[in-house]
Amino acid sequence: MEIKAIGCDPLQLKLMHVKDGHTLKVYEEHGGYKSLRKAMNMTSDEIIDEVKKSSLRGRGGAGFPTGMKWSFVPRDSPKPKYIVCNADESEPGTFKDRYLLERDPHALIEGMLIGAFALGVETCYIYFRGEYKYLIDIMDRAIEEAEAANLVGENILGSDFTCNFYTHTGAGAYICGEETALLSSLEGERGHPRMKPPFPAVEGVYACPTVVNNVETLTAVPQIIEMGGEAWQQIGTEKSGGTKLWSVSGHVKKPGVYELPMGYDDMEKFILEDCGGMLRDDKKLKAVIPGGSSVYIMNADQIIGKRVTLDFEGLVEGGSAVGSGGFIVMDETVDVMDSTKNLTEFYKHESCGWCTPCREGTDWMVKIFNRIAAGGGRPEDAQLLLDISDNIEGKSFCPLGDAAAWPIQSAVKRFPEDFKKHLLRDGQ
Ligand SMILES: Cc1cc2nc3c(=O)[nH]c(=O)nc-3n(C[C@H](O)[C@H](O)[C@H](O)COP(=O)(O)O)c2cc1C
Ligand code: SF4
Repeated sequence: MEIKAIGCDPLQLKLMHVKDGHTLKVYEEHGGYKSLRKAMNMTSDEIIDEVKKSSLRGRGGAGFPTGMKWSFVPRDSPKPKYIVCNADESEPGTFKDRYLLERDPHALIEGMLIGAFALGVETCYIYFRGEYKYLIDIMDRAIEEAEAANLVGENILGSDFTCNFYTHTGAGAYICGEETALLSSLEGERGHPRMKPPFPAVEGVYACPTVVNNVETLTAVPQIIEMGGEAWQQIGTEKSGGTKLWSVSGHVKKPGVYELPMGYDDMEKFILEDCGGMLRDDKKLKAVIPGGSSVYIMNADQIIGKRVTLDFEGLVEGGSAVGSGGFIVMDETVDVMDSTKNLTEFYKHESCGWCTPCREGTDWMVKIFNRIAAGGGRPEDAQLLLDISDNIEGKSFCPLGDAAAWPIQSAVKRFPEDFKKHLLRDGQ
């Protein structure tokens, strides 16, 4: 398992291989909490401006510009304000946040403190997926260390800035990674998504202004304040600033967590050289899902010789999306009908059941996939899957419905042979 930066100095991964990097002592020896001190001598507007200049876009999946999200928080609101870190990390193929939480927890605390200082927040929550219990223990210890050093709590560093931290755990539901379902769960309710608008920045937890950001988004903030927004942006591209973590799994020789500058050129080189090439030398690249299961699957013809750059714009142009950076590589032994069936079973299981198109549609699609897998595929089944997924996409209450539709739409269109071979086997 590789954990390393390629094409840039490690920023997010700086402490990954440093002994005791999770402790306050070692974090401070490597420059930790200097950015907080610097930010506390800046105005709110100056901090938000630096984040805007950095072109940092959310690393949780939707890629929303972070500085803009922060600027939506009504600073004159009489209500308390909150920052919630989304550490749910449930997207299939995604496993980067766990390393940041395990080996660099103070970077997250520092990033949240800088946001809290800028937005007048006195309470921060970190929401973990239930399976990350061992990481909550590490984070709780880091928060205690920061409290003891007067970096968290009342009158931070002798100022009038007060900010407390709490960790919270979900019970293992993928939907609780969706920001409004997460807020319901945090309040002790069932994790159902909420109607937007109002967006959380205006009406979030306890109906108060709330910023929800991913772990990797927040750990980038101390770097941005340290080097300045413009310098951080220039590591990447104009519209996709900084670096990005990619969780690489599947049929490569060196799976792992890689930090690349945004705009890395290119996807083919990344797979065939940086990740060590195909796991089995005699097997060819067949497919890649570059951004976690909720993005379009790409076929080899869209990658080989196409110079797809790894950033928000490059991947959309190449036919997919950055998503959460869960980079799943498949060789020619994979049957894409079968891998898509597997993903559809996941979405059916994780559908919260609130709205009809997603609840019923994912169930129907699983039934069709099961029939196809059992040898009862009919020639019209590929079109039937497309019709059902079209009736889920854009017609469901929250983006999980779209996420269930996209893998099927792209798989049927980009790997027609993998469906056809099953659909011809229908006993006609
Ligand atoms: C079904 C679903 C699951 C999600 N899971 C996660 C997750 O595990 N972690 C995460 O950060 N964002 C997840 N998101 C995205 C969040 O809703 C939200 O966009 C994100 O936390 C905002 O942070 P960012 O702007 O820093 O990316 C999910 C979205 C959906 C629709
Ligand atoms: S789209 Fe699915 S997960 Fe989202 S509200 Fe509807 S049933 Fe629940």
